[in-house]
Amino acid sequence: MGVSYDLSGRRILVVGASSGVGREIGLAASHAGARVAFAARRADRLEEAVARAPGEAVAVRCDVTDDADCARAVADAVAGLGGLDALVYAAGGSPLGMLENASRDTWQRVLDVNVVGASQITAAALPHLRESEGRAVYVSSYAVRQSLPGLGLYRVSKLALDGVIECWRMEHPDVAFTRVVVGNTKDTEFAAAWDADALKEAMDVWLARNLFPAATMMPVEVLAEAVLSVLAVRGYVDDIAVMPRARDSAATAEEALRTIG
Ligand SMILES: NC(=O)c1ccc[n+]([C@@H]2O[C@H](COP(=O)([O-])OP(=O)(O)OC[C@H]3O[C@@H](n4cnc5c(N)ncnc54)[C@H](OP(=O)(O)O)[C@@H]3O)[C@@H](O)[C@H]2O)c1
Repeated sequence: MGVSYDLSGRRILVVGASSGVGREIGLAASHAGARVAFAARRADRLEEAVARAPGEAVAVRCDVTDDADCARAVADAVAGLGGLDALVYAAGGSPLGMLENASRDTWQRVLDVNVVGASQITAAALPHLRESEGRAVYVSSYAVRQSLPGLGLYRVSKLALDGVIECWRMEHPDVAFTRVVVGNTKDTEFAAAWDADALKEAMDVWLARNLFPAATMMPVEVLAEAVLSVLAVRGYVDDIAVMPRARDSAATAEEALRTIG
């Protein structure tokens, strides 16, 4: 890591920390001296992250689609860390498929995890964040800027998440709410559940219409470093965007897609 941030003593809950972006943010924050609660559903993956964290860290099992679980997870994190200075919401689902094939159940699931869960966890964390004059950071996506056939449900969920962040900001100006727009990132499980047929259908459209955005993939540590900069700064940060650089390029869209997840 080129720049080192000092998060000594900061108490940070990272939701969606069992893999990918959230896990990397949690580990980077721990390296920077923070006390970190790693939260998600897969307990074994959380324990593995906690074991790798160099600083004080706890694993907190949490399904963000369950209100009681959100409240308990925040309470467990606060008990384990001794309070809360920051919440990072990196939980997310990214179903692939054309709108014409989307079931109501798939719609509800992606909105539940990407939008409603973000707000419910924030509500549970709010009293602690107000007490610490803390901040909440949400992982949004470049999908809010570009529409791709097959990622419509995902795009709509991230646009809705942006709205949720704006509303929290208006209701509670004493807490800092930051949106992080993120471009294609390597070493995550973003595409792990994508169905091969749905992927082929989408790929055919993307390639035929030259829609795959530059086929570049950013190292996940680069994204984590950018989020650390938000966590470390004392000012109010509304919005940042972290994108791959040209040197991160994969040769082809197929190669970039194989790298995802
Ligand atoms: N990778 C990219 O290129 C990219 C680009 C832009 C934005 N993003 C965003 O980055 C965030 C993280 O995604 P990722 O790429 O790192 O993918 P990932 O490796 O699949 O991580 C997703 C995380 O969300 C958690 N999660 C999913 N459903 C959950 C639930 N019901 N309750 C609690 N946690 C849940 C998962 O944990 P469990 O399954 O253990 O619960 C996992 O920790 C997402 O918001 C995604 O939209 C990623």
